[in-house]
Amino acid sequence: MFRSLKLIPLLLTMAFSVIVSAGPLGIGSVATPEMIAGWDIDIRPDGTGLPDGEGTVAAGEGLYEAKCASCHGLFGEGEGRWPALAGGEGTLDTLHPEKTVGSYWPYASTLWDYIHRAMPYTAPQSLTDDETYSISAYVLYLNDIVDDEFVANRETFARVKMPNEENFYVDNRPDSKNERCFENCADPKAFEIVTTINGLTPTGHFKEDSGVAANHYDGNPSAASESGISKEKNDTKIVLSDKATLGKGVYDTACQACHNPGIAGAPRTGDKTAWVSRIDQGMDVLNGHAINGYQGADGVMPAKGGNMSLSNDDVINAVAFMVELSR
Ligand code: HEC
Ligand code: HEC
Repeated sequence: MFRSLKLIPLLLTMAFSVIVSAGPLGIGSVATPEMIAGWDIDIRPDGTGLPDGEGTVAAGEGLYEAKCASCHGLFGEGEGRWPALAGGEGTLDTLHPEKTVGSYWPYASTLWDYIHRAMPYTAPQSLTDDETYSISAYVLYLNDIVDDEFVANRETFARVKMPNEENFYVDNRPDSKNERCFENCADPKAFEIVTTINGLTPTGHFKEDSGVAANHYDGNPSAASESGISKEKNDTKIVLSDKATLGKGVYDTACQACHNPGIAGAPRTGDKTAWVSRIDQGMDVLNGHAINGYQGADGVMPAKGGNMSLSNDDVINAVAFMVELSR
């Protein structure tokens, strides 16, 4: 029959594509404009997508009380643990930020979109466009963003300015702290692993004679921030031994909790003064103390930092990491 089994799938595909064929791939069926319209309901920040129709604060009041107040409260204060829709101004930078439509949301268009798309919780997409305009207007009114005369329609709604809009902006911090290397790149085998305040960074991405700085990490302390490791180290570039490089992971999971902040008498990693006499004892003593634990003059170092699942070598590597950062 067939000269090759490989032909069978091909013939099957050809037969199949006669039955259902749509678009360049020949699969599925063509979506009708009605189907697309059912999904194409997003409203953009500039109001694009808002439909015809209108609603008033006055009409919104009754609708809101009937359909929304049981959960969100008569004044948007939130019943029980249901979310509040109003209030919370000035709380965002406090210990207990209250995020509501008024205190937090950047665009009024999102309110229209959200209510139309998802509310009431028990009957999403049951509101007409006019009802959505009215209820949205009323929620804005509850937040003192519009007055009671406000008539919401495509034009007026798009012009509403939300109090917190300015605090939303494009985050232009780079994703990567290092310059990327696309050409004149060095052989990865030649990279050095260097520790910085922010962690481990391979350096030497560029060939030495390529005219580009071969090392990325220039010891710039401004790049150093969140890590708790003592700041004296900011301006020093330390090339870690292989042991210490392995120890970094162990340190981060089992040791940093005490040794980054230096709590309960633990010497802070990176604090040369705190480490100098300890290092003088020699690595064997340090390793022994870290593996078996000990009571010192400053506090108790628990055996293996309290993590008995670590092997002795794990602990020895972590000690190497700490010591190399601290001398
Ligand atoms: C049965 C309770 C219930 C009813 C009724 C209800 N909602 Fe909600 N609403 C919720 C819940 C729960 C959430 C949070 C949903 C989530 O975060 O996924 C919510 C969220 C919201 C939010 C977003 C709040 C925020 O800051 O994230 C808005 C706006 C909202 N509802 C408006 C309305 C409006 C307008 C109505 C009436 C048409 C309504 N809801 C009716 C339960 C309800
Ligand atoms: C619960 C807090 C805590 C944790 C977790 C912890 N340490 Fe310590 N460590 C201490 C304290 C406190 C000291 C200082 C004790 C003294 O000298 O009085 C110390 C001291 C040390 C010393 C110096 C020993 C010496 O002889 O001076 C080393 C090395 C050390 N820790 C390694 C580690 C390693 C490795 C880990 C993780 C596997 C770790 N520590 C986890 C509290 C901790």
